[in-house]
Amino acid sequence: AASDPGLVERARAAKEALGDRVFILGHHYQRDEVIQFADVTGDSFKLARDAANRPGAEFIVFCGVHFMAESADILTSDNQAVILPDMAAGCSMADMAGINQVEDAWAQLEEAGVASRTVPVTYMNSTAAIKAFCGRHEGAVCTSSNAEVALRWAFDTVGGVAGDGKVLFMPDQHLGRNTAVLGLGLGLDDCIVWDPRKPLGGNTPEAIAAARMILWKGHCSVHGRFRKDNVDTLREQVPGINIIVHPECTHEVVTSADFVGSTEYIIAAIDAAEPGTAWGIGTELNLVRRLADAHPDKQVHFLEDTVCFCSTMNRIDLPHLVWVLESLVAGTVPNRIVVDAVTQEQARIALDRMLALPA
Ligand code: 13P
Ligand code: SF4
Repeated sequence: AASDPGLVERARAAKEALGDRVFILGHHYQRDEVIQFADVTGDSFKLARDAANRPGAEFIVFCGVHFMAESADILTSDNQAVILPDMAAGCSMADMAGINQVEDAWAQLEEAGVASRTVPVTYMNSTAAIKAFCGRHEGAVCTSSNAEVALRWAFDTVGGVAGDGKVLFMPDQHLGRNTAVLGLGLGLDDCIVWDPRKPLGGNTPEAIAAARMILWKGHCSVHGRFRKDNVDTLREQVPGINIIVHPECTHEVVTSADFVGSTEYIIAAIDAAEPGTAWGIGTELNLVRRLADAHPDKQVHFLEDTVCFCSTMNRIDLPHLVWVLESLVAGTVPNRIVVDAVTQEQARIALDRMLALPA
């Protein structure tokens, strides 16, 4: 639906009044009505870097979800306020790994005698507390655009991919599995799933001793919905179609697709595609619709047959953005995301390790 013209005008006026004092970041899954006001758009990796490179802005308005705003707070200076327009914009995947559950899993790995050869790596889509855990235990953060490099780095610190060290990968089992198998050449049977509700994560001590990748039992509620059936149906309906999906999709979906990559990768692929080519895209619907609108000379299909927005990304809407910007103009700072100093310091170690990885 078209944005309310009154709200569009109010957002524009408030943003203009704030000038360089405000910098608005927009994740690719945000609504059109919000994206039109973003100073930069990006995937979670690009936005983390962009936030870190804006020392001049007093207010960073993060149109994305809570864990992204936390990372921005960690990467910016203390006198910059990071603002999340709706505090209820969380992430169901990040919620699947609580810090107490992770501490408990680590204690069990210590007891099993494998923790000293295990490197914890967390996907950006996790709380600051879990990033801090990785900072404390010689681990790192990764995103969907650098997961392979990050995993190689992690294995290198415990003897290499060909050795017998392990990675505890949180919270997205699919990104972990897809990267380990398709990127690093590990086998599916090198991977075990750790279910935090079960003793030893639901594994035998032998299975833990043999595993190379310990995959936290988490997933994305949006990407986890795509099925291989969706791929097969589109291929039948549109002969010659290219299927491109996000690595948060299941291994079965990813292996039946032609291309896999982060949101930035997907956008670049469609931008570079020849006119007349057909694409079936397995990622969030706001982005797929925008790509379809931007490329009328290409056939852009959504991989699913039902609506597949990220409900928490969608909580950030124009009324929330207007409220935040007008509050800033009026001199109050609403919805500030503040990560405590100790968590910041430890999480920053894990984030800096990621930012230092080769591109
Ligand atoms: P990227 O932004 O890293 O592609 O991740 C997608 C996602 O699910 C963000 O929440
Ligand atoms: Fe979380 Fe998935 Fe939504 Fe991204 S798309 S914020 S991973 S639920």
